[in-house]
Amino acid sequence: MLIRSPKSWEIPTSAVTSASLYHDRPRRDFLRTLGLGLAGAALLRPSALLAATAGFPAKGNPLYPGSALKPTPEEYVTGYNNFYEFGTDKGDPKELANQGWKTDPWTIELAGLVRSPAKFDVNELVKKIGGIEERVYRHRCVEAWSMVIPWDGFALAKLVALADPKPEAKFLKLTSFNDPKSSIGQRDHNLNYPYVEGLRLDEATNELAFLATGVYGKPLPNQNGAPIRLVTPWKYGFKGIKSIVRIEFTATQPTNTWNIMAPSEYGFYANVNPTVDHPRWSQASERIIGGGIFSGRQATLMFNGYDKQVAGLYKGLDLAKNY
Ligand code: MTE
Repeated sequence: MLIRSPKSWEIPTSAVTSASLYHDRPRRDFLRTLGLGLAGAALLRPSALLAATAGFPAKGNPLYPGSALKPTPEEYVTGYNNFYEFGTDKGDPKELANQGWKTDPWTIELAGLVRSPAKFDVNELVKKIGGIEERVYRHRCVEAWSMVIPWDGFALAKLVALADPKPEAKFLKLTSFNDPKSSIGQRDHNLNYPYVEGLRLDEATNELAFLATGVYGKPLPNQNGAPIRLVTPWKYGFKGIKSIVRIEFTATQPTNTWNIMAPSEYGFYANVNPTVDHPRWSQASERIIGGGIFSGRQATLMFNGYDKQVAGLYKGLDLAKNY
């Protein structure tokens, strides 16, 4: 019999098991969900199911097992979202990203300092990459809440290899879609659009960096960033740019949307760090979404528990200055 000792980055199942799904959920979100269940169901599912479908069902990756981290109930993962293009309340994206916004077909472009610039349909890309796998990762939002999410997708390093960066390439600049006709947030200018994010090249090729095309074994719903979004589990959730249309390789550090909006509050690195507080709140602990009222908080871990995999990337860097 194989006995597995838990890794340092695994949190106890008890910390994320939901006893009661709706207890810590704001009443308004709950009512909104109910309303959608009745009136909106027909509107919601068809477009969500049109997202990138290649490669399903994915095989689990034994390095990031679902048995070690108990996933947050699916209705929270797909119903409690940040996607400012579709509103600023947590329940807005599920509603507003599913009112005719098309995420299939979808083209993603590889550009900049690469030997193989290209444009791919996302389904074609998945086939070219060699399929998808499932990884269960912690998700820590900069707003001090967390989930555990079973993503489907592939290592970003595979895409980097496909692009074949030139030696001058040191960073990736990732850009989200720009379509004010479909996006109420873009029409309202609630952020600087399109949403952009960046990674150092060595961060992008770290084993954890992941491009998700699905969640909970199904193609990504629009509200989670269909058809393809970034997942960097050692960083705050805002690095996880959704609905990516372009990845450009650059020599200089790109800017990122939340840093443009509030530079003193959100940096380029955004590494989860319980010792560096946000100017307006502590980052030492986090609210567990879906955890029920009595097990609702837990201590935040350095690099969200992934220090073994990523601490080496930041040797010699002052993490308080490079927040
Ligand atoms: N990507 C885009 N394009 N627009 C956004 O507003 N929000 C970010 C990130 N990616 C955001 C985005 C934030 S703040 C978080 S916490 C995560 O998406 C939330 O991902 P989830 O809704 O799938 O949990």
